[in-house]
Amino acid sequence: MNVAGRHYRTIWLNEDGAAVDIIDQRWLPHAFRVATLRTVEDVAVAIREMWVRGAPLIGVTAAYGVAIGMREDPSDTALDAVWETLHETRPTAINLRWALDEMRGLLRPLPPGERAAAAYGRAGEIADQDVELNRGIGRHGMEIIRSIAARKKPGEPVNILTHCNAGWLATVDYGTATAPIYMAADEGIPLHVYVDETRPRNQGAYLTAWEMAGHGVPHTLIVDNAGGHLMQRGAVDMVIVGTDRTTARGDVCNKIGTYLKALAAHDNGVPFYVALPSPTIDWSVSDGLAEIPIEERSPDEVTLVWGLSENGEVERVRISPEASPAANPAFDVTPARLVTGLITERGIASASPEGLRRLFPERSSA
Ligand code: MRU
Repeated sequence: MNVAGRHYRTIWLNEDGAAVDIIDQRWLPHAFRVATLRTVEDVAVAIREMWVRGAPLIGVTAAYGVAIGMREDPSDTALDAVWETLHETRPTAINLRWALDEMRGLLRPLPPGERAAAAYGRAGEIADQDVELNRGIGRHGMEIIRSIAARKKPGEPVNILTHCNAGWLATVDYGTATAPIYMAADEGIPLHVYVDETRPRNQGAYLTAWEMAGHGVPHTLIVDNAGGHLMQRGAVDMVIVGTDRTTARGDVCNKIGTYLKALAAHDNGVPFYVALPSPTIDWSVSDGLAEIPIEERSPDEVTLVWGLSENGEVERVRISPEASPAANPAFDVTPARLVTGLITERGIASASPEGLRRLFPERSSA
């Protein structure tokens, strides 16, 4: 997508052909900074501390991390060590394990001397593939927006609510939940997006709002608690969110608070869609509540908040008593029964084993 008139992806190979450059998301929306990752440890820190985040981008960054690791040491032992180091950075997003498995599966049979070049090549392909998958999601998801628009008065916007950031910043480009929004906006379909602020890390307020403004999409930032009220008033036509891991039966794990939005949508008859590329499906698990590890992050993310001070500095301030403990589960699971449809690159599936397998028949034996 464009930033100040220049096209950016969120991650690209540095001009030295070895390091990897990323948009450092810690500073958005107040400052646009690029960081260079030169070592496996740099990559691990960037994923763990959320310089990059969003399930698809975490996967792509890890793939480049393996390539960097193979340049340092292409041995079997190093390959396994890089897999372990990067795998433990963020436990919930399945795209991380998917990308690491892809890389190790490709590299293991190769002679060590060929591994680094092959790893950079495959990481680049995974990045390009992510963009294509998101385009596919966009095309299918846009048809839903178009059909809602067709039932409205001419010029009346389709009101979409989204949670967290499943935008281009969470992927290599386009985003998952935002791809249909950008395509519909580009086609001239009138729309308006309610952006959940998404405490505690505020990915909605910091990142999705910045994306919407950058693309010229009419939007309104709301506190997380406002969604149910807006749905009761008929102000929301549909919800679209992303996911960090969706199970083979269609349970959806996503940013904490997604479940509450799904409950409110269900109670108010608002369609609740989840946009996801196929690497986000974990075919090995069925019951999301029982089987998906939920990342617990630092309580500091709850008690301390980043913002722009009056003197123009990006600062962190405390919002609660120092003596009060805080808990920070980063994701929750929305049961399949609350999901209207799963928007994938191959089309829209019902959130059920049959729905997913109809679109991905090659997984029928998984
Ligand atoms: O903790 P984050 O910011 O990595 O969480 C991101 C989300 O929950 C997204 O909705 C999900 O990863 C899908 S991104 C296309």
